[in-house]
This record gives sequence, structure tokens and C-alpha cells, in this order.
Amino acid sequence: MRLTLKVWRQPGPGARGEFRSYAANDVSEHMSFLEMLDVVNEELLTKGEEPIAFDHDCREGVCGTCALMINGIPHGPKRATTTCQLHMRSFADGDTITIEPWRARAFPVLRDLVVDRSPFDRIIAAGGFISAPTGSAQDANAILVPKDKSDLAMDAAACIGCGACVAACPNGSAMLFTSAKVAHLGLLPQGQPERDPRVLAMVHQMDAEEFGGCTLFEECEAACPKEISVENIARMNRDLLRATLRDRGPAHIEAGGG
Ligand code: SF4
Ligand code: FES
Repeated sequence: MRLTLKVWRQPGPGARGEFRSYAANDVSEHMSFLEMLDVVNEELLTKGEEPIAFDHDCREGVCGTCALMINGIPHGPKRATTTCQLHMRSFADGDTITIEPWRARAFPVLRDLVVDRSPFDRIIAAGGFISAPTGSAQDANAILVPKDKSDLAMDAAACIGCGACVAACPNGSAMLFTSAKVAHLGLLPQGQPERDPRVLAMVHQMDAEEFGGCTLFEECEAACPKEISVENIARMNRDLLRATLRDRGPAHIEAGGG
């Protein structure tokens, strides 16, 4: 395949960026998208030019680092597929492919196609944990988990923190990510002790990171490579309301609030 790539090049955070065109003339349809970029980078290095910076790690769809906007779609045209699992057979010979970093205020560009997604780390750190007693492991049957709850929790736990939901959202909202992280612990018995403080802390941190608000475009669910459902957002909003009322309860009563 012979392709033309229009790639966002930006030398550093806050620097002026621009699209540059590159010819990719020896692309196999069996290559992954990242392998195709590797080949382009080898050619650039051979010519003494700066390679294109892009993020990647596992290359098997589990780490969430391969965050690329491909032809305006996070992770490209194939539904429920990360960039590293996208193959060049999803494109046609002669195509022009535009490759950009995530575009969201909360994810500043570090270089070329690499953005800073540490706001997600801080949301996780705010409440993405459970307390567990130390000592020997509990008997497996001591805490029974209903099947429907464990299924929902596992679905939410599939979130790989890639940020495609934020990039796809016209508001740059992180509600799908945050709600998945709140849900996968909050649905399980083991996650109950911190359920209220968890949702309060994670939503507070999400707001502090300047993600936009959710106005129900649902682009996040469509772009998510792990098909995280927007039902998690509704679940998180219910949890948030309940936790807020409980949190404000005593002070509200003391103040004589009706
Ligand atoms: S919810 Fe989906 S799109 Fe958003 S970070 Fe998790 S896996 Fe990525
Ligand atoms: S490189 Fe890990 S999910 Fe793509």
C-alpha cells in the first residue's frame, strides 16, 4: 500500500505545531498502525530527521497508551479497537490519513502525538482503591458477589485509561473514565466502605483537572475501545447525589435546613 500521512508535529509543550506530510510507500495490510509508524520513523531516522513521537507500550490493547486521533476518530475507524490493534487493512491503497494527538484542554501536548494524561492518574489516586485488612487471605466464599454485580463491575474494570472518551467528547469530559473507575469498585461488596468518599473525591479531582461537563453527547461510548457503557455515568451521578446528601447531612440538619 502507498499512503500519505498528515501528521501533527509539535516540538514541545506550548510550542507552535503544524501538520507535515509524509509518504508511506511500503506498507503491508498486515501491519498494525503502530508498525506502520515505526517504518515511517525508521525512514526519517535514515534521512537524519526527527522521528514522530507517539505513545505506546503493550501493543496488545491492554495498557491504553496508544492514544492517537486517526482521521478525526479516537483510535481510528474500527469500533472497539485500540490504535495498536488496528491493522492497515482497515485503510485503502492511496489513502491520506490524518494523525493527531488527543485534543483536550486537560491533556496538553508534550510532543508531536504524545499528550500528558497524568490528570487520569490523579483521579485514580484520589479514590481508586479499597481498604483491606492485612493478614492471611480471606476464604473465597466469605464475601459472596452477585453474578449481575460482578459482570457489571468487570465490564467497568475493562477501562484501560486511554482517554479516547475525553478526546471524542465535544466538552472534553472525563465522565466515562471516572464513572468506570468509580463503578468497578463501588459495585462490589469489597468497595462499599469507601463508596461515598470515593465518588466524592474522584469527581472533585476530575473537576479540579478542568475536564468539561457531560451534556450527554454519548460520543465517549462510541469512541471507547473497551465499549464502556454510559450507564456508568448515570450510576456515578446517583452515587454522587447520595454521597453528597449523606456528606452534608449532619451539618445540614444542625443548620436547620429543610
Ligand atoms: S472509558 Fe473507554 S475511552 Fe475512556 S479511558 Fe476508559 S477505555 Fe479509554
Ligand atoms: S499500546 Fe497498549 S493498548 Fe495500545
